[in-house]
Amino acid sequence: MFKVSIMNFKAVFVALIAILSWNEILARTCDNKDENPYLMFSTKTSYFKVFNGSNIHDENDIPGCQAKSLWMLARHGSRYPGSDDILVMADRGVEIKDAIVEAYSSGKGSLCHEDFIQFQSWSFNWTQDDGSLLSESGKLEMFQIGQRVRKRFFDDIKDETHIHFRRTYKKRTGQSAESFAEGAFPDQSVEILKPLHTDPLLRFFDFCTKWINDIDENPETYKEQRLFGETDVMKKTLKDIGLAIGFNEELNLTDGLIIYDICRYEQAHQPDKFSVWCSVFQETHLKVFEYYEELKYWHKNGYGHALNYLMACPLVQDAALTLQKEEIGKSGTFYFSHSEAILPFLAALDLFKDKEPLRHDNFHTMSERHYQTSRIGSFSSNVIFVLLECEEFPQKRLLTYHQERRIKLPRCDSDPCNWDQFMSRYQDVIGCQFDQLCGTDDQANEEFINLDSNSGETNNAKSLFSLKLCMLCTFLFGSALINS
Ligand SMILES: *[C@@H]1O[C@H](CO)[C@@H](O)[C@H](O)[C@H]1NC(C)=O
Ligand SMILES: *[C@@H]1O[C@H](CO)[C@@H](O)[C@H](O)[C@H]1NC(C)=O
Ligand SMILES: *[C@@H]1O[C@H](CO)[C@@H](O)[C@H](O)[C@H]1NC(C)=O
Repeated sequence: MFKVSIMNFKAVFVALIAILSWNEILARTCDNKDENPYLMFSTKTSYFKVFNGSNIHDENDIPGCQAKSLWMLARHGSRYPGSDDILVMADRGVEIKDAIVEAYSSGKGSLCHEDFIQFQSWSFNWTQDDGSLLSESGKLEMFQIGQRVRKRFFDDIKDETHIHFRRTYKKRTGQSAESFAEGAFPDQSVEILKPLHTDPLLRFFDFCTKWINDIDENPETYKEQRLFGETDVMKKTLKDIGLAIGFNEELNLTDGLIIYDICRYEQAHQPDKFSVWCSVFQETHLKVFEYYEELKYWHKNGYGHALNYLMACPLVQDAALTLQKEEIGKSGTFYFSHSEAILPFLAALDLFKDKEPLRHDNFHTMSERHYQTSRIGSFSSNVIFVLLECEEFPQKRLLTYHQERRIKLPRCDSDPCNWDQFMSRYQDVIGCQFDQLCGTDDQANEEFINLDSNSGETNNAKSLFSLKLCMLCTFLFGSALINS
């Protein structure tokens, strides 16, 4: 028999109401979750969010033309945070997590219940040994780019196909080169050039004394970013986030950036899983943090100062020389470097330039900016040049791809670019007066060699010096040919 007394019914009813109102305070569901969350995190954006496959057609097939040589510059794939950042996350990050869980448990904040559960069970297991290494998703980014490059340009590997790989001395670029090679040339044994401890080509930024002194190490460079951190836009953002996670005191920028960092690194690590740390941000908040990052890169590696990008000229020069090197068969040159190389390189080509400078006070007007590091400088960002040999005029043409998508070079009249036009319109960059730009005359070079000889690197530095000279003469020889 089923029998409920009025008393019991009342008790159940009261309990039900209590649960319902409890629910209302504490167990807000995640119904309002964005189906399509904003996942653009400046230079810590996963390549999977930038490359979406929709642009892969046979768009590299230009009738009457053959791809002769290919030159690629790529940033390493998605990586772990640096070991210092890992330490901060393991320390302050875990404290913040505990505070979030505690706040929720005492009815504060506006997280939904599912997010609370995820925070509660969140643990941090990256160690300092992981610091700056390529993550599994970073390897996959590179592997897949390799596969697509193979499919598009190297599906007919022959004996006379020349493949050159070069990377910086950082482990993550070596891991990137390896993963890329596995995807692109699975049946070949690809030789990856032993990393040079000092590499004036892939790490030109280490050599530009003037840039190091006047820009990189100059606090003025970071002024716009710092000022943006003090604007009402940022204050409101921090306040919103503080309220969402139920912080007693106001959330400061330091803690805000730690939350942002855990969010974006986790997101790049596991692109298919939404990191609970990202759930404390609304889309506008993420755009504010993205702009905060942008202000650093634009002033340090972008259009903020001409030297930032003019000093990338060794790479542009190398592309010009390497692509037209007379080799029998087809050639592919693959370089693996860092955001400090690819961002200046893009700017040296005049790409993604805005009419307005990026400042602390124009966040809103620059919302549709071209210079968006999330898109142009994500993990695994890449530029590919392909030199075509065509039956009809112009016989030499240059295809340019950014993030595997064809783009028109700003100084060219068309895409593909007439090769001669490329050589003449970018002559100032290709001509590359690196030492003059960077205040590193021959004396400085000699000092450099001497400095290195103390640490037993003489041979390396000397051979690099002659490499540079050799590049210069090849170039002069090359342009003499063009002019003739
Ligand atoms: C892919 O990316 C392009 C360029 O950013 C964009 O226009 C397009 O909408 C994206 N497609 C999908 C399915 O996300
Ligand atoms: C860290 O956690 C992730 C996800 O829970 C797991 O896949 C990974 O194996 C863990 N790593 C270590 C070193 O415990
Ligand atoms: C930010 O706030 C936390 C917690 O209140 C505090 O420990 C930390 O010192 C603050 N940092 C700065 C730079 O004010």
